Amino acid sequence: MKNGLEDVIAAETQLSDVDGEAGRLIIRGVSLDHLVSTATYESVAALLLEGLMERHFEPTELTRLLGEMRVRLFAHVASLGPELLALPPVDAMRALIARLPDGEDFEAALRLLAAPAVFLPAILRLQARKEPVAPAGSLSQAADILWMLTGQLPSAEQTAALNAYLVTISDHGLNASTFASRVIASTRAGLTSSVLAALSALKGPLHGGAPGPVLDMLDAIGNSENARDWLTRALDHGERLMGFGHRIYRVRDPRADALKRALRPLVSAGQVDHRRIALAEAVEEAALAILRQRKPGRALDVNVEFYTALLLDALGFPRESFTGVFAIGRTVGWIAHAREQSLEGRLIRPRSVYVGPLPQAA
Ligand code: CMC
Repeated sequence: MKNGLEDVIAAETQLSDVDGEAGRLIIRGVSLDHLVSTATYESVAALLLEGLMERHFEPTELTRLLGEMRVRLFAHVASLGPELLALPPVDAMRALIARLPDGEDFEAALRLLAAPAVFLPAILRLQARKEPVAPAGSLSQAADILWMLTGQLPSAEQTAALNAYLVTISDHGLNASTFASRVIASTRAGLTSSVLAALSALKGPLHGGAPGPVLDMLDAIGNSENARDWLTRALDHGERLMGFGHRIYRVRDPRADALKRALRPLVSAGQVDHRRIALAEAVEEAALAILRQRKPGRALDVNVEFYTALLLDALGFPRESFTGVFAIGRTVGWIAHAREQSLEGRLIRPRSVYVGPLPQAA
């Protein structure tokens, strides 16, 4: 038995590869660094779904169809009543997605790619007692999300930063949420069911729920001089430092640096306080030094969530919505893996070792 299925190979995939020793992520044959500097969210979605749906489509066609789907799905926002709005944003979003029909075809995939992008900004505005903003439809997915969030056309830097984020997190091997998506797909339940299972796995703080707490940590530390003492106390209390450590990476998570780079234009445009970046760098340095000292046998480094927190905060997303934004970007990976599983895989049905009592002899 491998606790946590560590190092167990449970699928063959053409979608992405995480090399934990080299700190390298490849998505369908393209390195993350190359993708982030060249791709749009829509082109990565087309790349991931290539050959997995019943028909071929180009990124430009996907951009248009996704825009139209966002406009159509906006009608669902009207069903957000007080009970759903009292939930955390990611749970309210999950409830709305649960109402979408299940299916395995391109239409079902398009609906699921567009739905979180439309639902999350509307939920956030309603929770802030503002009117939801209808999608423009003609914008890219990244620009339209920012438009729906703020009601203002985003700057080129803001759109580029959110696009870089969505590309960076589009897929990442067989992480917990992607595995959940594949398990559901292996029963042929449908893509909506796969995405709901994956979203439920994502929201935990050990997976996609970490960036909000990263920001809480930076706020609590307050200034660079406090970093060492604050982090030491947190570890003395048995806490885990959010934004550090990874099951696969034994070196820096390459997504952390991609996001750190994506922040630069926002800093130059005065859209992020450079003191915040300086604080984050000081906390990162102090945390790495302390973790090296405390856990000499386990290489713990910075992960994707650390700079996610700074980037999404700079774009105006409230911290309680960060997991929902992660889901907007990762849904395409979940769908691609679900399709790959149902096209090529068998029912996933592992075994457990029974360690409970045996029946007493009569
Ligand atoms: N802070 C302090 N100690 C840590 C941390 C951390 N962030 N991460 C791992 N450790 C310790 C852990 O306590 C354990 O120590 P010991 O052997 O003495 O009990 C040792 O390092 C090995 O940890 P592990 O539990 O075997 O690691 P894992 O592979 O099960 O967990 C992790 C990976 C990401 C859940 C974990 O590193 C963690 O909890 N990090 C903080 C939460 C976080 O940043 N989550 C986002 C993950 S990246 C997004 C994604 O791709 O999903």
